Amino acid sequence: MLRISGVDLAAAACINGVVGSFPTVNAREPEQLDAWLTEIAERCARAERPTAPVCPNVLMRTDPDKLDADVDVLVRHKVEMVLASVGSPEKYVQRLHDAGCFVLADVASMRHAERALESGVDGLVLLSAGAGGQTGWANGMSFVRAVRRIYDGPLVLAGGISDGHALLAARLLGCELGLMGTRFIATQEALADPAYKTMLIDSSIDDILLTRGISGIDANFLRPSIVACGLDPEVVSQPVSKEKSRELFSAYAGQMRGPKRWVDLWSAGHTVSAVGRVCSVAELVDELEDEYRAAKAAGRALLAE
Ligand SMILES: Cc1cc2nc3c(=O)[nH]c(=O)nc-3n(C[C@H](O)[C@H](O)[C@H](O)COP(=O)(O)O)c2cc1C
Repeated sequence: MLRISGVDLAAAACINGVVGSFPTVNAREPEQLDAWLTEIAERCARAERPTAPVCPNVLMRTDPDKLDADVDVLVRHKVEMVLASVGSPEKYVQRLHDAGCFVLADVASMRHAERALESGVDGLVLLSAGAGGQTGWANGMSFVRAVRRIYDGPLVLAGGISDGHALLAARLLGCELGLMGTRFIATQEALADPAYKTMLIDSSIDDILLTRGISGIDANFLRPSIVACGLDPEVVSQPVSKEKSRELFSAYAGQMRGPKRWVDLWSAGHTVSAVGRVCSVAELVDELEDEYRAAKAAGRALLAE
């Protein structure tokens, strides 16, 4: 997650058996990305039990030179998995495959899914309605079943995975994995401002505002963070052009005046209702595992009725 996931969050996830991810743009320079991957590998090597792979996330619509340099670093580190988002990964698929990398692409529509499959990716992340960050619009259940009609490879559901029960539901629907963001912002290892973590605890689904007025693309933001910046959520949710939204809200500090998206205006998904405390990644993963097991037991009881 942009400005949230760094070495600590990704490494803690992998060490606790959960694929850890971070956008490569969170590392300002390719040298920093190189250092992060080395650090994550070293922490995993010191772990006392088997670890999950790290899955760096490449944002296809970023500075092309930085993107090329980042992909070079990923290939050099022979990362096992990459998640490509916001745009087609076509340009890099062959190169990553040659390095033995498993390539996932996130998609928000059937057309995106078909195009991503044509580009040769190994699996799809289905970005569904209510996801944190730049969200999809399709209902998660329908989207999984629609894609399953055209594709029998690996699928990951993103959006709506509030807890272990929802994770099992995603698997029952036909996904191999679930992708969770918001729940992991409220961990000690996340780079988020402590006030952001507190706001997640205090917020519910009703506090999530879907708007393209902030980032120029449909994204879910926390209403209280919009109000805290002195803005009116009703005004912010009015449709504006990409150019206008860029003018109003910049992504990086110091670039423009006014509140900055992702920095002052905070994002979360519908899963925010499941955030009850700030804890370590290890505690969160334990909780998810307990819930997943409880959901399985409930499922068995249901089937036996
Ligand atoms: C603050 C924030 C930043 C995000 N940044 C990224 C990103 O940089 N790249 C990406 O592919 N997805 C990003 N996402 C989306 C997540 O990968 C994931 O799809 C989403 O969080 C799933 O929904 P959930 O938050 O309800 O679990 C972000 C989400 C949030 C909340």
